Amino acid sequence: MSTVLNPPPTLRSFRSPTPRSPRLSMLLRSTTLSTAAALPVLTKLQHDCATPLPLLRNIADNMAADMRAGLAVDGGSDLKMILSYVDSLPTGHERGLFYALDLGGTNFRVLRTQLGGRDERVIDTEFEQVSIPQDLMSGTSDELFDFIASALAKFVKKEGGKFVLPNGRSRETGFTFSFPVKQTSIDSGILIKWTKGFSVSGTPGKDIVACLNEAMGRQGLDMRVSALVNDTVATLAGARYWDDDVMVAVILGTGTNACYVESVEAIPKLQGRKSTYGKTIINTEWGAFSNGLPLTEYDRAMDAESINPGEQLYEKTISGMYLGEIVRRVLVRMAETGSLFGKHIPEKLQTPFALGTPNISSMQQDTSEDLEAVGSILYEATGVDSNLDARKMVVEVCDTIAKRGGRLAGAGIVGILQKMEEDSKGVVFGKRMVVAMDGGLYEHYPQYKRYLKNAVAELLGPELSSHVVIEHSKDGSGIGAALLAATNSIYEH
Ligand code: BGC
Repeated sequence: MSTVLNPPPTLRSFRSPTPRSPRLSMLLRSTTLSTAAALPVLTKLQHDCATPLPLLRNIADNMAADMRAGLAVDGGSDLKMILSYVDSLPTGHERGLFYALDLGGTNFRVLRTQLGGRDERVIDTEFEQVSIPQDLMSGTSDELFDFIASALAKFVKKEGGKFVLPNGRSRETGFTFSFPVKQTSIDSGILIKWTKGFSVSGTPGKDIVACLNEAMGRQGLDMRVSALVNDTVATLAGARYWDDDVMVAVILGTGTNACYVESVEAIPKLQGRKSTYGKTIINTEWGAFSNGLPLTEYDRAMDAESINPGEQLYEKTISGMYLGEIVRRVLVRMAETGSLFGKHIPEKLQTPFALGTPNISSMQQDTSEDLEAVGSILYEATGVDSNLDARKMVVEVCDTIAKRGGRLAGAGIVGILQKMEEDSKGVVFGKRMVVAMDGGLYEHYPQYKRYLKNAVAELLGPELSSHVVIEHSKDGSGIGAALLAATNSIYEH
């Protein structure tokens, strides 16, 4: 992987001079002695995180180039460009009872849906969410899969009402597994590595469906996995069920990733494998992208101390698991060099991941004059006492990190659209094109979302961006996986 820790000189020139934001100028005028000492830290941070248009263009170009290189040959770039084996998307004609399991973050979801074909569409859906105990995230493979299978077995027992399984059939499920998997068919795939803080032993290198089947066997559960899919792929399928123009899906939650509809001819590494429809979905695994990212000393330190150093650098710069932690690291520096929160630095502030991305988002929503909510969130999460000037500075830090993340995510989306357009000549940019978005970060961080959308509009310009619809497809991945189970059912539908 080409880890760009020291950006090339061309990138450096994109970043200076950084204009002072009006808020920062106001802050400069009003600071007290304690906060003034922390100001150089903020100024340097803003300089290092700046994402002017030329830098964003470079990111979009690099993303498009890395996509091509990853499509040419396995290992051709940071982007794995994984074949999903999903060659046909739901049409609306699907019928019957289908399940979905969704494992991808700290929560695990089970869902069932009764599909009624063209006319009735989704007759009913039920789901349950179970949080994964922390120790299972670093335990053994059997422990994790036994936990999942047992939650699923309990859920199946509650089946009734509008949910009907025809006699003589096994239940079928889609399995959304949101980690990098090398698919070997629509219903099998090998885990390449864990991400997002998971480090379960014994799973990498194994077929995920086999792991689940064994655990379901131990529970005495008769269920067939008919589609193993990434959450981006499930989101695309779920959104496409309602809207034929959906061509790209992006997850911005704990982790991040994107997938899109690709022409089979544009995938040299397919080596002649045919698809009935001439199209297939590619899971980019863009979280591993790294080429040209504006990284700071805080990012490098966080990466070095992570369980996967040197990996998932784009994910570590733009996704929900990490934004709060980057902010915390900056605040520690401000506390040390500028006594931003007084002489004493509480242990909580020095604890990795004490400040979550939901915390920094909530702080940015505080519009009160004395920033009371900022003060209490800071106190609750990190144990610091803050005066008004310190709070203002903290909000500036949150904004700087959210802005960089949102804009870089926007540039990534444009990179994908650019690649699709280069191959299809006018087909992508000439008509309505929908990017289905999901994930808690996108949903719950309005400033981040705005920065993302603005970056897309800046990069594409008013004419082209008017065709691109960035649409929230809430929880599309659960229903999407069930729909893909239906599309790939062994029974006729
Ligand atoms: C995983 C992807 C997943 C994304 C969003 C990343 O860490 O590698 O497979 O799609 O998170 O959940």
